[in-house]
Amino acid sequence: MDPLLSLGAGLLLLALWVRHKGLEYLLVHHRWVFVCLFLVPLSVLFDIYYQLRAWAVWRLHSAPRQHGQRVRHIQAQVQEWKNEGRKTYMCTGRPGWLTVSLRVGKYKKIHKNIVINLMDILELDIERQVVRVEPLVTMGQLTAHLNPMGWTLPVVPELDDLTVGGLIMGTGIETSSHIYGLFQHTCLAYELVLADGSLVRCTPTENSDLFYAVPWSCGTLGFLVAAEIKIIPAKKYVKLQYKPVRGLEKICDKLTEESKNKENNFVEGLVYSLDEAVIMTGVLTDEAEGRQINRIGNYYKPWFFKHVETYLKANKTGIEYIPSRHYYHRHTRSIFWELQDIIPFGNNPVFRYLFGWMVPPKISLLKLTQGEAIRKLYEQHHVVQDMLVPVKSLEKSITTFHSDLNVYPLWLCPFMLPNNPGMVHPKGDETELYVDIGAYGEPKTKQFEARVSMRQMEKFVRNVHGFQMLYADCYMNREEFWDMFDGALYHKMREQLNCKDAFPEVYDKICKAARH
Ligand SMILES: Cc1cc2nc3c(=O)[nH]c(=O)nc-3n(C[C@H](O)[C@H](O)[C@H](O)COP(=O)(O)OP(=O)(O)OC[C@H]3O[C@@H](n4cnc5c(N)ncnc54)[C@H](O)[C@@H]3O)c2cc1C
Ligand SMILES: *[C@@H]1O[C@H](CO)[C@@H](O)[C@H](O)[C@H]1NC(C)=O
Repeated sequence: MDPLLSLGAGLLLLALWVRHKGLEYLLVHHRWVFVCLFLVPLSVLFDIYYQLRAWAVWRLHSAPRQHGQRVRHIQAQVQEWKNEGRKTYMCTGRPGWLTVSLRVGKYKKIHKNIVINLMDILELDIERQVVRVEPLVTMGQLTAHLNPMGWTLPVVPELDDLTVGGLIMGTGIETSSHIYGLFQHTCLAYELVLADGSLVRCTPTENSDLFYAVPWSCGTLGFLVAAEIKIIPAKKYVKLQYKPVRGLEKICDKLTEESKNKENNFVEGLVYSLDEAVIMTGVLTDEAEGRQINRIGNYYKPWFFKHVETYLKANKTGIEYIPSRHYYHRHTRSIFWELQDIIPFGNNPVFRYLFGWMVPPKISLLKLTQGEAIRKLYEQHHVVQDMLVPVKSLEKSITTFHSDLNVYPLWLCPFMLPNNPGMVHPKGDETELYVDIGAYGEPKTKQFEARVSMRQMEKFVRNVHGFQMLYADCYMNREEFWDMFDGALYHKMREQLNCKDAFPEVYDKICKAARH
């Protein structure tokens, strides 16, 4: 057995043991002890293991050879399920705690788990500018692989551990989405194993109904086994401009204006209070002014959202050159601003210089070890939500977020939403500019009550023709859900592909009752 893996497993057992020995109080009230002593070193080991593995696989060129065999293994498992009489639904065998998505689906325990062992980059086609990958390939793995060769993805969702499969079957977004759309809009083909065990490829012209039905379907139409994603030339730096803006109307106007300016490769807003924000615009470049280079990803550097706030406090604009990979993963070290609630002193310079290289702990391990008490506590006193709203409703949306949640900073990430068929598209016939509003943290409204407050928010979002990201807690009932999402193509495909007894409906997979 791999020594790193066994060491990791040993540490994990130790961690689980500590948890079961009645340290509940300590864990709830001083979670950082456990996180710093166990999770953080363990996360480092996991990363080293996966990086070595990815490197070796690419060196040995073993992935393309093994891919066919691995897909046949998935098909064989589906065949087995058919032979057994299609008794329960199927789902991927990836344990719920391993995903970045917040909640663990209860269905993992009762559905037939199909083991999907597909975590490699298959092919880089420079001529077509396409990379073909397996679904468990992560964003960290892809940028580490592509950037040194001068390439990158048009949309690189922030966290290293996000997977291609999750970003296609759920969704993904980055600050380049005002040009390229959501993660799935940068994909050119999907390969799936369907409920009848067959392998199909779909593109905008070949099996196009399936191609457009896949995003947001959360694995309820088939198993993704490969995807082709567009690549674009990478540059060394992002020239990033920070602009503090005061006044809600001005903030919304500025964000809209910058999103429509085609010279900006990246547009992002961090809102620090109802009328204070910093709007950032970035341009890719190979040249940099030495003095203005800031390697924000280095472990001893301040957390990015804290760094950005200094421009607001000083009330001055600024320009910095940030190495591209540092830019793509600028919120990773602090998990946006989630880590401040778990390691309160994490941004303290002493901690950063001594231990900064070990954070963040893996979200998967945080989830695995959080225990029922913390989970409940988090559910009632903590929100993690991304709501996608048309930019014309942005001002109203921020006001609503303020009165219902009062969580800051808010993340603003503009994106283009094309009028493709499928679950998510604008109301009109045209491509429309939307904004992802991310709220992560402890609500400061007095009357906050998770269910009531979130249902209120969801209603607001439905009314402005917006969408809720499905990784988060969803309190809508079925009718409300299908009022928010367009089910026409989805249900047609479920019928056509005989999914009814093979996969649950997407609502039954992501609703509150289905997860814990
Ligand atoms: C703290 C935090 C930060 C986040 N930050 C960002 C961010 O910066 N940008 C962003 O875009 N998103 C972000 N997200 C949300 C993220 O987009 C979703 O969690 C997304 O679904 C990816 O998660 P995952 O790779 O762990 O996918 P999973 O949770 O593993 O998968 C999502 C869905 O897809 C299905 N699925 C996965 N693989 C397959 C397959 N091979 N075949 C069939 N079905 C499959 C799963 O069953 C599941 O229903 C964040 C989430 C959290 C909790
Ligand atoms: C910030 O600076 C602008 C001019 O650049 C000025 O008009 C404004 O009053 C300042 N705001 C604060 C809060 O200092």
